[in-house]
Amino acid sequence: MLETKTERIVTPARNVLGSLRLPGDKSISHRYALLGALAHGTTRLTNFSTGADCASSLDCAAALGAKVTRKEDGVIEIAGTNGSFHPSDAPLDCGNSGSTMRMLTGLLAAAPHTYTLIGDASLSRRPMERVRKPISQMGAEIALVDGHAPLTIKGGKIKAIDYTTPVPSAQIKSAVLFAGLQAEGTTTVRESVRTRDHSELALRGFGVHVDRTTDSVSIAGGQQLQAIEAAVPGDISSAAFFLCAAALFPGSNLVFDSLGLNPTRATLLDVLTALGVHIGVLNLEEKSGELVGTVQVNAPASGLTGTTVSGSLAAQLIDELPVLAAIAPYTQNGIRIRDAKELRVKESDRIALVAKNLRAMGAEVEEFEDGLDVPGGQQLRGAEIDSGHDHRIAMAFSVAALRAAGDTVIHGAESAAISFPEFYDLLDQVTER
Ligand code: S3P
Repeated sequence: MLETKTERIVTPARNVLGSLRLPGDKSISHRYALLGALAHGTTRLTNFSTGADCASSLDCAAALGAKVTRKEDGVIEIAGTNGSFHPSDAPLDCGNSGSTMRMLTGLLAAAPHTYTLIGDASLSRRPMERVRKPISQMGAEIALVDGHAPLTIKGGKIKAIDYTTPVPSAQIKSAVLFAGLQAEGTTTVRESVRTRDHSELALRGFGVHVDRTTDSVSIAGGQQLQAIEAAVPGDISSAAFFLCAAALFPGSNLVFDSLGLNPTRATLLDVLTALGVHIGVLNLEEKSGELVGTVQVNAPASGLTGTTVSGSLAAQLIDELPVLAAIAPYTQNGIRIRDAKELRVKESDRIALVAKNLRAMGAEVEEFEDGLDVPGGQQLRGAEIDSGHDHRIAMAFSVAALRAAGDTVIHGAESAAISFPEFYDLLDQVTER
């Protein structure tokens, strides 16, 4: 559970300096938790995400019969159900987590029981037809209420499909692959934009054979998952807030240790480089199929230029777009975002909330159905920020506040704990005021 609603006052900073080792990647933690619950044997994870979202996945895993132990040293152990989830009369509570609800739908497709998946107010507004369609084509019975949770699923014997995702979504891809793992025949998922591939890498880690081409992934049904021992790489989408904060201050210097650098997730580093930020990557190594390394960031003395994010870049940067848009007024030429309509169906309508909050800070911004134009050369002023209880909006505007004139009040700042409970403590630690 999140702490009660809090507001945070963020005061302007003079510089951003320090070194950080971040909690584990949210996307990877979800996958390890959910696959670990179905696997044979005990999965042992270090640096698991500390966010409430991944706790929702662990709680669902436990409700399905996995034995989840949180050790004192932060290690998480998950004794798997060896391919057979237990029935659960109580609803499976996915909290705020779309990843939990969508991926679990795929995993539950072959379980011969009826489950109800529920979520909080935000999750209950998000589109679930996108998973109902392929998973019911495979043979599971799924009911929604007007396209949304509560989602009721009755699994059983399912068959493989060849499915092209209608929108770029790693969650849809993962749901179909997780069902495909338990289906009769070989399931293929095709996508027009390559989305994050943590499921493919995690499945391989758990000993499953996965075939990939440039735009498709195939998995044969009937393979067993074998428990893993893994360290979850630091979350690059959490690092994004600090990378962007450092980008705002000439003279800044931040170093991130053991950061996840999976190429399907590290696009922000290229975009920041295009804006003129100096990024160094050291000590690259592969851990459980995932790239991990040290990243050093320094802002350019001459300030940030500007850029356009559109097409496949928008899909790959989807979680980082709010913070990029929030720092865009401080660039010279502004940032233009297009092809990012998916932002409207995240934890909040992130296009509308980014525009609203930038305006509250005195910026000029133009809103489009699929993006935003944020002109550069604008000085923001401190303001009251409506986070919409969306973790990434709260953190994005906390970063924008660092260079604003005057103090900023972030309403609903507690939502940061959905992905990154340590955010405000670490922000205090690395900012010079
Ligand atoms: C995620 C995929 C993305 C992303 C979300 C996590 C994942 O969602 O926005 O924060 O872990 O697969 P979509 O797959 O819906 O684009």
